[in-house]
Amino acid sequence: EEVAIGLDIGGTNIKSGIVNAKGEVVHHLNLPTKAHEGGEALLGRIAGITKEMELYSDSKGWKVAGVGIGTAGQVNSRTGIVMGATANLPGWSGMELGERLQSQTGLSVLVDNDANAMAFGEAWVGSGRRWKDFICVTLGTGIGGCLIIDHRPYPGRDGFAGEIGHHVINFDGYPCNCGRTGCWEQYASATGLMSLVKEAGLALAEVHKPEMVFAFAQSGNEAAIHVLEQYTRYIATGLANMVHIFNPEGIVIGGAITRQGDFLLNPVRDQLSQQLLPVFRERAEEIEVVAASLGDNGGVVGAVAGYFI
Ligand code: BGC
Ligand code: NA
Ligand code: ZN
Repeated sequence: EEVAIGLDIGGTNIKSGIVNAKGEVVHHLNLPTKAHEGGEALLGRIAGITKEMELYSDSKGWKVAGVGIGTAGQVNSRTGIVMGATANLPGWSGMELGERLQSQTGLSVLVDNDANAMAFGEAWVGSGRRWKDFICVTLGTGIGGCLIIDHRPYPGRDGFAGEIGHHVINFDGYPCNCGRTGCWEQYASATGLMSLVKEAGLALAEVHKPEMVFAFAQSGNEAAIHVLEQYTRYIATGLANMVHIFNPEGIVIGGAITRQGDFLLNPVRDQLSQQLLPVFRERAEEIEVVAASLGDNGGVVGAVAGYFI
């Protein structure tokens, strides 16, 4: 059986797995990123994980087609170089990830942005497989994005396209890690939700995790309900902007927060249709907003999609 090794590098965790030609994760491993140790240490960890996955594949008699990596930051997928990285991955910018890992492991290596990888996974075997053109958004520490055109991530000239977390929705707003002010990710990411909680002050002083806002709202807490109204409005505002620009068939939303299901997505859908231009609104029910069906595995699966399709 032919398999590939997928890695999803985030600020907090490295998710990795062995993926088969059907896009199934047949073995997986999650480890802390330990980003503070710097870029060289991170490369070392990635090489170690890859070796371990290769040995496991050998023991099963599987043939490894190659390695695929999705990482936070701006990646030139042609050269495999991480050209820019968020504050979450210090020392990662400038890393010649593709070439270095290839020479250390002897395996072929594909590298892309984490959200692009996740979107490719959703396009291949997830929620997006029924569409040709769609938008993928991940709501996590930051907001990742990817435009899928004709079933594939649209890279733009340098591979940087889809940085929708950094489109500004409030130029008098919160400062962003990227240096701009009022980026969408400061409001509509999981971190953004916690900023809104903080603004609510004493009323939500006990809330220190995103899932707690939803629990409080479900039990009728007025302040939590109000924060979620604001929050879903911020999500929908950014999505409406995207829909107007790209006129996609649908939107796939990923990130742990989508475990809240329709309790999160229904108000987003309502807000979205209210905010669309009339001609879009009339067709709003046709622009589906769905949760990523691969859950946490999307990045790992999508990172290796290029070996199989
Ligand atoms: C980064 C993106 C990344 C996203 C999710 C953003 O802050 O700019 O490159 O895809 O976070 O990790
Ligand atoms: Na992206
Ligand atoms: Zn920003």
